[in-house]
Amino acid sequence: MHNQSKMKKIVVLTGAGISAESGLRTFRDSNGLWEEHRVEDVATFEAWQRNQALVLEFYNQRRKQLYEVKPNAGHMALVELEKKFDVQIITQNVDDLHEQAGSAKVMHLHGELKKVRSTVDENLVYTLDGWELKKGDLCEKGSQLRPHIVWFGEAVPMIEPAMELSAEADIFIVIGTSLNVYPAASLVYYIKKSTPVYLIDPHAEMLSGVKNLTVFREPAGTGVPMLVKQLMDSGL
Ligand code: OAD
Repeated sequence: MHNQSKMKKIVVLTGAGISAESGLRTFRDSNGLWEEHRVEDVATFEAWQRNQALVLEFYNQRRKQLYEVKPNAGHMALVELEKKFDVQIITQNVDDLHEQAGSAKVMHLHGELKKVRSTVDENLVYTLDGWELKKGDLCEKGSQLRPHIVWFGEAVPMIEPAMELSAEADIFIVIGTSLNVYPAASLVYYIKKSTPVYLIDPHAEMLSGVKNLTVFREPAGTGVPMLVKQLMDSGL
């Protein structure tokens, strides 16, 4: 039995890289999604106003793929950590692979693919049945439903609680994110100077301004289990 209040708090910031080995493409790697689609065409509110069909199709394809993939060893290893630590995941991913793996606390910064919401009342959020959101699918107030995604140029409602969590971390882990997108990328600046930070990414670059950094230049499927074993075996 573990006493939750005495457990060390691990905060994990994940990006598209943790889901890559499940078969979901990242955004900015070569062959990434943003090579094939322009952000301005599919991931902004202006795009939605200009060409709803194209935006619906883009997210329908993402959602359809999500139903075809499974969590990988990286997602699974993070669940293992909960046996010894109070683990909070902050993900930029819109997939639900952390939840499918069994992680208990997952905060989504950029929304969730399997959810949709009203275009007149942002509080009306629904879980979509199946993969396809169609023109003419309406909220209870009669407006077209949109993907429950934070588009470029839109506010990130969960950023404040995410900053607070980052500041509370005893151990901070960053996995598979290029840290190109703000404000998500700024979370690393809220980590306490005394907190050890681990970075797992096959193309990892140093995190400037972050003290106590250990880099695993590894894919998540092998790097995360490696780090988890180290933390489980440690005296922490
Ligand atoms: P990016 O595509 O920008 O970065 C993916 C990162 O994953 C890169 O640093 C890769 O080196 C790394 N990577 C690739 N394969 C990996 C593997 N097998 N294991 C571990 N790491 C691997 O994706 P994000 O940083 O998540 O937002 O992108 C941030 C946001 O930009 C996304 O949430 C999305 C996107 O536009 C929205 O759509 C709102």
